[in-house]
Order: sequence, then C-alpha cells, then structure tokens
Amino acid sequence: LADKLESSKRAAAYRAIDENIDFKTDKVIGIGSGSTVIYAAERLGQYLKDSEYSDLVSEFICIPTGFQSRRLILDNGLKLGSIEENSMIDVDFDGADEIDDDLNLIKGGGACLFQEKLVSTSSKKFIVVADYRKKAPKYLSTNWKSGIPIEIVPSAYVRVSDDLKKLGAKHVIVRQGGSAKAGPVVTDNNNFLIDADFGMLENPAQLHDKIKALVGVVETGLFIDNASKAYIGNADGTVNVFT
Ligand code: A5P
Repeated sequence: LADKLESSKRAAAYRAIDENIDFKTDKVIGIGSGSTVIYAAERLGQYLKDSEYSDLVSEFICIPTGFQSRRLILDNGLKLGSIEENSMIDVDFDGADEIDDDLNLIKGGGACLFQEKLVSTSSKKFIVVADYRKKAPKYLSTNWKSGIPIEIVPSAYVRVSDDLKKLGAKHVIVRQGGSAKAGPVVTDNNNFLIDADFGMLENPAQLHDKIKALVGVVETGLFIDNASKAYIGNADGTVNVFT
C-alpha cells in the first residue's frame, strides 16, 4: 500500500512537470511543500541532467515555500531564488490536503500555508499534485483531527479560538508539536497554527473571508479560485487531470 501511494504521488508530479513547464519561455518556478512535491523537484532535477534541457533548466529560478522546499531545490541542484526578487512566478507546483470539484483546496497540513499562498497567488499557473486520497467527493470537509489550518499571531491564540467558535467551528485546536516538541508548532514565520473543524464546507469562499477578517489571523489554508489544474495520481499508476 505504501508503495502504491508513493507511485501515485510520483506519477502525478512527473506528469504535472512534463505537461506544464514551457522550457523555452518559463523562467521562474514555484516549488511547494509536502511529500508529493518532492517528486516534482526530483523531475526538474532529471531535466537538469538531460543534455537537451540542462542549459534552460540551469537558468530556472526556483522559489521555495518554506524550509523543506528550500532544501528540495538545493538538493536537486536547482537555482534557489526569493519571492522578494521574483514577484511574478511562471508556474507553481504544490500539494494539497483536500481538493473539491471547483479546485478549491485545503492546505497547510505541513504548516507552510502562508508562504504557499504567497507563492501560488503570485503565479501565472498553479498546478496541484496529489495522491488519490485527496480528492473530495464534492465539497471540502474537515473533522476534529484535520481542520482548516489557520496561521495566527501567537499572542492572539485565545481570542482567535473564541472567534472561530462564534463563526461555527465545532473543534478548535492550537497545533502541538507532539512528541517532537512540548508546546505549539511554530511556523517558518514564527507564528502559531490553529486547526478548526467546520465540518462540510459548502461555501469555502465565504468562510475564508470571515476567518481572514478576524484580528490575529495571518492567513487561512483555504485556497479559493487559485489552482489552475490538479494532477491526481491513482493507485494503479494512472493520473487524472482536473481543470
Ligand atoms: C503544506 O503546508 C501542505 O499544504 C502540503 O502541501 C500538503 O499538506 C500536501 O502534502 P502531501 O503532498 O504530503 O500530501
């Protein structure tokens, strides 16, 4: 089963890279976070070693979405850039925790949602890569174990938790480091994360707007009208493309 999962991620990411980079005109590439995008960076690394593409790919500037993503870029021999110097990205590749029929997403399972949104909304094309577990039947939905990740200013955690419950959240938790750290997870931007369970999300855009308006909220893990396409790998190695 683990092998099938990895193959599905690899198949989705490889095909997404193969079909969405214009090697002649694209110059700036976003590289997201998580376990699926590892294969997107790996595929770009393969093109870098291919004599037919290496001159072009060695000039690509790759924009990371966090610490893990920076390492992925460097470990695959790609050129690391920053969003400060490249505010217009040609194409961004990133994973998702859940994907609905309209390509609205829940992201932030890996705690990188702020930079992921900064990069994906600065990109002309945003391509989602994911395995077969991520496609929602119709609507996005959350539960007490995996809510909507929300990045917040640390001092506001009580206030934001209360406000989220007033907006209808059934469960709200400040994400903890577990056995790896006593206390809350701290993001790459030195903030905390709240995971808020709102059940089925029939109108994720409206909910995003309401959460975003709360004092102390930096960004939500609801990515609305942002993705251009989603490549979803299946257990049998095939890939479904959603637009
Ligand atoms: C990181 O914060 C997340 O948004 C990831 O992109 C998301 O959790 C997908 O991760 P996987 O590719 O590991 O499923």
